[in-house]
Amino acid sequence: MMKNRKIREIFKRKNKNPIVCLTAYSKTIAEILDKYCDIVLVGDSLGMVLYGMKSTREVTLDMIINHAKSVKRGISKSVLVIDMPYQTYRNKKEAYKNAKKIIKSTKCDALKLEGGKKIINIIKYLINKNIPVMGHIGLLPQSERGKFKFKGRGSIERKRIIEDAILLSKVGVFAIVIECVEESLAKIISKSIPVPIIGIGASKHCDGQILVTDDLLGLSNFTPRFVRKYSNIKKIINESVLRFRRDVINGNFPSRKNIY
Ligand code: KIV
Repeated sequence: MMKNRKIREIFKRKNKNPIVCLTAYSKTIAEILDKYCDIVLVGDSLGMVLYGMKSTREVTLDMIINHAKSVKRGISKSVLVIDMPYQTYRNKKEAYKNAKKIIKSTKCDALKLEGGKKIINIIKYLINKNIPVMGHIGLLPQSERGKFKFKGRGSIERKRIIEDAILLSKVGVFAIVIECVEESLAKIISKSIPVPIIGIGASKHCDGQILVTDDLLGLSNFTPRFVRKYSNIKKIINESVLRFRRDVINGNFPSRKNIY
């Protein structure tokens, strides 16, 4: 039984109005997203997007907690989900200890863990301890070695991902992120389980969509096919900084309006 009302409401959105989700790493962005999103995720993508790390595996518990604290200050209505970083949930005891630490210090609503069958007993354990969990299947950035490639090409891989989804549904996750999978596979999964599916590069056959906010704003250098760029913030920042530079050099800044 899901105790948190906001979590129950997300769960009930299966096959209903689409669930809107985005990532945030700071209060400034969270405040904007909170008006438009159902779920705000402090994703461990922050390691690559914000810190320029080679993979999400370098993200630590303290890093995610600090960003989540900042994000929490900007959230008033959305469900706040935090990624459990790599190697912070290798067994039940470790997962529970770290999950409690994240929840206590950030006051988030739920945690997201990457994987299905391999970590099913850990997820089940957390849920039994009343910790709401969001699943993450398909492409798993914490486990990937080399270039990220979409999943669901071969029948063995497809079967494994479907099995992961069913297992996660059975242990009681309230939603599942499904990343970079072939369209027909997303459709099968969505129809097979009563849990809302949140897609990222997983077609329209999902109950909601998530993107990394920096990607849709055009702030990151990451432009895979599944991202739609809604603006080019990088260009705006470039132009603004260039104008500031020119004003400083030409003596146009500060003006009378900017001094005491
Ligand atoms: O870390 C992240 O931002 C994520 C999303 C891409 C789903 O897991």
